[in-house]
Amino acid sequence: MKISEIDIPDAIKGFYTESGISELYPPQEKAVEAGLLEGRNILAAVPTASGKTMIAEMAMLKSIINGGKCLYIVPLRALASEKYARFREFEELNMQAGVSTGDLDSRDEWLGRRDIIVATSEKTDSLIRNGASWIKDITVIVADEVHLLDSPDRGPTLEITLARLMQMNPDVQIIALSATVGNAQEMAQWLDAALVESKWRPIDLLEGVFLSGAIKFQNSLRTVEHKYKDELTDLVYDTLDEGGQCLVFESSRRNAEASARRLGQTLGKSLGIPGSSESSESPGHEYSVELDSLANRVLDTGETEITRRLAQCVRGGAAFHHAGLLSEQRKLIEDGFRNNLIKVLSSTPTLAAGLNMPARRVIIKSYRRYDPNYGMVPIPVLEYKQMAGRAGRPGLDPYGESVLISKSDEEMEVLIEQYVNNNAEDIYSKLGTESALRTHILSIVSTGLVKNREELMDFLGRTFFGYQQDTWKLAAVVDEVIEFLVANNLVIDSDGLHPTELGELVTKLYIDPMSASTIMEGKRHLGRVNVTELTLLQLICNTPNMRPLYLRNNDYSWLDDYVQQHNDEFVAPPPPHSSEYEWFMSEVKTAVLLLEWISESKEDDITSRFNIGPGDIRAQADTAQWLMHSTARIFSYLGSEHAGFAEELVERISYGAAKELLPIIKIKGIGRVRARKLYNAGYKDIEAIRKEKFKALADIIGPKIAANTLRQLGIDVEPEPNGDHDQTGKGTGQQNIIDF
Ligand SMILES: Nc1ncnc2c1ncn2[C@@H]1O[C@H](COP(=O)(O)OP(=O)(O)OP(=O)(O)O)[C@@H](O)[C@H]1O
Ligand SMILES: [Mg+2]
Repeated sequence: MKISEIDIPDAIKGFYTESGISELYPPQEKAVEAGLLEGRNILAAVPTASGKTMIAEMAMLKSIINGGKCLYIVPLRALASEKYARFREFEELNMQAGVSTGDLDSRDEWLGRRDIIVATSEKTDSLIRNGASWIKDITVIVADEVHLLDSPDRGPTLEITLARLMQMNPDVQIIALSATVGNAQEMAQWLDAALVESKWRPIDLLEGVFLSGAIKFQNSLRTVEHKYKDELTDLVYDTLDEGGQCLVFESSRRNAEASARRLGQTLGKSLGIPGSSESSESPGHEYSVELDSLANRVLDTGETEITRRLAQCVRGGAAFHHAGLLSEQRKLIEDGFRNNLIKVLSSTPTLAAGLNMPARRVIIKSYRRYDPNYGMVPIPVLEYKQMAGRAGRPGLDPYGESVLISKSDEEMEVLIEQYVNNNAEDIYSKLGTESALRTHILSIVSTGLVKNREELMDFLGRTFFGYQQDTWKLAAVVDEVIEFLVANNLVIDSDGLHPTELGELVTKLYIDPMSASTIMEGKRHLGRVNVTELTLLQLICNTPNMRPLYLRNNDYSWLDDYVQQHNDEFVAPPPPHSSEYEWFMSEVKTAVLLLEWISESKEDDITSRFNIGPGDIRAQADTAQWLMHSTARIFSYLGSEHAGFAEELVERISYGAAKELLPIIKIKGIGRVRARKLYNAGYKDIEAIRKEKFKALADIIGPKIAANTLRQLGIDVEPEPNGDHDQTGKGTGQQNIIDF
């Protein structure tokens, strides 16, 4: 079907044809035929790279032209950025996109002025809880990667969010985009959607298994020359030699780094990247300069060991990617790979979902993954298909290949049967657990969506869980949850279900009611405790919203000593050797990590002491900041004298700095290290900095940051012809940080 034949306004047709898309892909055509453009709900369960986004786009654009507003829900921040970047192209059509992944207790009313809002499911849930006024104006909801309903961590939130939105806006059009799964029909019925299924893919994706020098694809065999020390390098070169790029999925961060290091060393030589002694005439010189510049940008992001290791790989044209990296590092690497500077990227499965990457060959190094309960277990077929599907994306590669690696004939046969020739599993709702229901029941009672048990059971009956199973199965756990909420003064169960003020507060803070209970219990103990930073940090580490660090063998002895020394600072520590003690120690370990962070320990020291990456420090700090903010709010509500102290810690966690730096650290671009330098040089507040000469500041924090700082403070800084800077003292009024 040609774009010109579709029932959409001409402006939209023009937009697509100008961008080179003149014909719909077959699954897109099926969606249109199924009523996509007449407002029908659609579930598209079609292969990777088959243009699911455009199915959603057509419905969204049509709706916006008719005055509508669209919400695009994604599972991951990386995907949110990719989709946001794409939807910004609609500015040409005078449509504005916005992305929201930030704080979980704000309404973000500014988003109401956008036509398309991209958000994670958690963010969407929190916007609903906080009563964002524009939610009622939504006309089209897109649920991307909707098969993640099956995920125990993320699924329930997506499911509840969709069920609520459908109840709140009964006329809304739902577009759900899914991988091909066994029970798509069931999901479609739940969503009251027309099901679009297809096996069609625009670019051929050959799936195969490698064994001793050859890849066995479904209908062909491809020999891979053995030129290097290991099979992975052979497999990578086989693709690089013909001009493609490779994405390698590893089962652990450590393996991802090790592969990137090995590949970077070999790659550097064979791509003709000259050593520093060679002349600028050598063939790989220009490429090498570009890689060096990217590596230097990586180094600019932080002074940690892992950053140096990453930069080293980048110089050789390889890189690794995992959650231990800072988000700005991940972005540099993703862009470097997209721009064909990084030829091979070795990653944990974080890159598996939905992203468009120029990977001609995806190599799945290990199909097993560590599970804390079962040890190494094979990954689900669905996940394998998602990884494989990163290869062969339209407009990026002429074909794609995915390769599993086997060690024997038997294993090869198993892999072909289990993965290559297999279909993805059915998906099941994970809503039926106490922890999922606890948080969502409080939320639906607090926001007035249900007023009594019958309405609650009725609502649960409209979830995917309710569609797949009888809701009476939930009755016992619902009773337990209500009992818990009542006991903690979050809900009143009398003549219907009613939220308390505290219940409403906890809902808006977006924390697990169990976390609220832990915080309230902690508050009751504080009178008997020597309250320090450690006290409140350990308290939040004791909540189920915090994921404590694992204990390693060499942690026990220092943690034991530490706990002894600080015993009077903890809220209700369990007795040593009790069953809870081990858990408590991991909470203390996490609290110490946060304490180091706010005491300005060097990032490199923290990462090596706790054996984590800088990205992990930020992730822990982000969670801690949110939980400490919640603690401050709950303390304040309960009239605790420690509310102010908790509030102060929120800021310290956010910046990773001591209290004395707070007056100056809010200057954008300063950061904890430079703020400390300024403070030690006597600049203890904004006024002292504002009064200073550019040159004096530049000597401490460098000319670029000094100029930027003064500009933020309303001081003009003019570059002088002789390279010096002068300040006129006149305010520009542009980037004032007046609220400081
Ligand atoms: N009709 C079309 N003609 C040409 N290119 C198209 C068409 N529709 C989509 N594309 C291109 O196909 C690429 C892949 O599309 P998209 O990201 O939507 O895939 P997907 O189905 O969502 O895959 P995944 O399951 O991996 O998320 C995009 O770069 C898009 O521009
Ligand atoms: Mg997609």
